[in-house]
Amino acid sequence: MSETVQLLIDGKTVELPVVTGSEGEKAIDIGRLRQLTGYITLDPGFANTGSCTSAITFMNGEQGVLRYRGIPVEQLAERSTFVETAYLLINGALPTKPQLVNWSQLLNRHSLVHEDMQIFYQNFPRHSHPMGILSAMVNALRSFYPTLPTSTAEEAINITVTRLISKVRTMAAMSYKISRGHRVVYPRPDLDYCANFLNMMFDNPVQPYTIDPRLVRALNVFWILHADHEQNCSTSAVRLVGSARVNLYASISAGVSALWGPLHGGANQAVIEMLRAIHEGGESMATVIARAKDPNDPFRLMGFGHRVYKTRDPRAKIMKQVCDELLEATQVNDPLLTIAVELEKWALEDEYFVSRDLYPNVDFYSGIVLRALGIPTNMFTVMFAIGRLPGWIAQWKEGADDPDWKLYRPRQIYTGPPVNEYVPIAEREPRE
Ligand code: SDX
Repeated sequence: MSETVQLLIDGKTVELPVVTGSEGEKAIDIGRLRQLTGYITLDPGFANTGSCTSAITFMNGEQGVLRYRGIPVEQLAERSTFVETAYLLINGALPTKPQLVNWSQLLNRHSLVHEDMQIFYQNFPRHSHPMGILSAMVNALRSFYPTLPTSTAEEAINITVTRLISKVRTMAAMSYKISRGHRVVYPRPDLDYCANFLNMMFDNPVQPYTIDPRLVRALNVFWILHADHEQNCSTSAVRLVGSARVNLYASISAGVSALWGPLHGGANQAVIEMLRAIHEGGESMATVIARAKDPNDPFRLMGFGHRVYKTRDPRAKIMKQVCDELLEATQVNDPLLTIAVELEKWALEDEYFVSRDLYPNVDFYSGIVLRALGIPTNMFTVMFAIGRLPGWIAQWKEGADDPDWKLYRPRQIYTGPPVNEYVPIAEREPRE
């Protein structure tokens, strides 16, 4: 007998099924609530509402647990690569050696971008934000790489997945080079995914880029930590847009747009701008903390707090280790790290943050890692997007593979004016 709950509405008892996840999480299935009671539920921000069941990523916000396809993110960060983790998320299991070799070869084969795309980049205003460019260019990929009529649906998806994972990395580096007026650097067949990206970003004819394996390792870990995070804002955008049966490129473009927001992926750039403001004397730490606590000030302590984690974000812990190792390796003494460590300590001893379970999230230290890699601040969220791409794709595919894949169309509770008549303009009283 499956588990149910009872709801007493208008003197009538309604029985609703309970869905229990593989980690014991429970949900009330309200799929027939309106039909049975005439009521809907209301949950702005969906903090209490599950949009789907999913077998991809498990998070426990109270215990700070994050697992991709059951594997703890700590083990993947220590032992895997971003390309292998992308395969795991998208295909549901770690690749065998032949599968990994084939996946890497496919990514290499599809790493070039249509030459005409450079004309698009060259015509964006120089001050354009790279996230706006990325969202537009991901959508444009559909025009440059339409699905071949001879492909089966599965072949079409697989080639699109490979193109996205490989070309978005190339497009990001291309966008950076063109924005600087530098010659575009092409991917090289002898470099792996992450080394290729760093080379495409920083190699130039008069100062060849030296691949440092410690920086390549740091970039792998950075992207592994960002690879998926269940039904976050941008992933929900990808699923929602995809539910209208639009192509994967357009769905991913919607995810890029959602990630751009400073409350979401844009926080890594906002953290560095906050730390820099403190460092350059524009703001004292005391002022920043006071502003973050002031209910009348929209300012938030960027890189702190999380809708799900009510303890330290497990990714923040690993990112801090990457920070320490990278600054050690590059012999860089970044004053912003010192400020970040002090700001974290200050906040974690402050009742306001402690009472609200506000801890550093993935974005708090990630910007310092990116600075150590030489990534410009306005590209920080692009780096988050490249990392989140496998997760977006895996989640979109899981939705598309669901035989009951429904169009996302939430309801509302109307609070507007009662019915009224159209008034001809001549008879409209001037409003005070
Ligand atoms: C990411 O969802 C995901 O998984 C996202 C992500 C992923 O991998 O996809 O993890 C990536 O987006 C991480 C979060 C990055 N954003 C930031 O660092 C921006 C700063 N953080 C906040 O804006 C906030 O913490 C959110 C948006 C992240 C979460 O906010 P919620 O869950 O909507 O919580 P809330 O706004 O209702 O806050 C509860 C209380 C409020 O105070 P009171 O009304 O109780 O007095 O906590 C306060 C908030 O004012 N609060 C903060 C705060 N975060 C929450 N106060 C100061 N500084 C903060 N950072």
